[in-house]
Amino acid sequence: MAKKIRQGTVFWQREHSAHREHPRYSSHNPDLVIARKWLSQGVTAKEKILDIGAGAGKITSGLQNTRQSVVSLDPTNITTHHHKIPQTSVRGISQNLPFKNNSFNRVLMAYSLTYAPSIKKALREAKRVVKQNGVLVVLLHKPKSIYMYELEGHMMDLRNLAYKLREWQELGLWNRPYPIEGIAFRAKTKKEFEAKVKSIEEQVNYLDRMLERQERIFSDEAKTTKYFESQGFEVQTITTPRPTVNNKQHYTGYALLLKNK
Ligand SMILES: C[S@@+](CC[C@H](N)C(=O)[O-])C[C@H]1O[C@@H](n2cnc3c(N)ncnc32)[C@H](O)[C@@H]1O
Repeated sequence: MAKKIRQGTVFWQREHSAHREHPRYSSHNPDLVIARKWLSQGVTAKEKILDIGAGAGKITSGLQNTRQSVVSLDPTNITTHHHKIPQTSVRGISQNLPFKNNSFNRVLMAYSLTYAPSIKKALREAKRVVKQNGVLVVLLHKPKSIYMYELEGHMMDLRNLAYKLREWQELGLWNRPYPIEGIAFRAKTKKEFEAKVKSIEEQVNYLDRMLERQERIFSDEAKTTKYFESQGFEVQTITTPRPTVNNKQHYTGYALLLKNK
């Protein structure tokens, strides 16, 4: 379990803090506003929201209706939550949710679904814990959006580093400083060096797979809709709410409002 939780989070620990400060990911972005609206509209009695892959809880921390409460789930412990409504944090992964069937009225996956090693499993779990006729709100980065280009740039750096370190390993040059994010590291032992090389290669493979899947499953709205329908959800709305510049979509994502049939 502990090993599983580590998967895919090493990269994110760096990326997360950058993302939180990222001007393009401010609280005023249209997709955050839409997601909040979907999560809070028509609340008539007390209800619980599950925020899967909550990170810093950017979306649910902006909810106002105190009839609602939030359970924030994330594999990392880097969460900083300042919610206006009752909130609890749980450590866990989307493909194995530690909750009983039909526990939540509304579930949110904001830019976290594609981090799961299996998207299918993550959706099966989300469907299991959301009540019938309950709502799943999903935000996704669109392939070829600026965010994905940024991620690909980061991948290129990681790939170069993995290549270089593998070469050093073959030459027995393990006791050299090597750069990560502009900071020089030097392994104390050969074993430590080899573990680092392996972990960087794992990150490259993990992100490669994530990008490949994203391209294949979510390349356009029609395909995305079909995919969620095939997983037993009714797609009530799908929208690409990011603003456009010169009629080209920049940093665009999808926002989906799904109903558990
Ligand atoms: C792009 S961030 C989004 C964070 C937050 N939802 C937001 O909108 O600010 C992706 C999040 O997914 C989490 N994550 C990574 N692997 C996961 C998994 N297998 N299950 C659930 N969450 C995961 C990361 O720790 C990170 O917090």
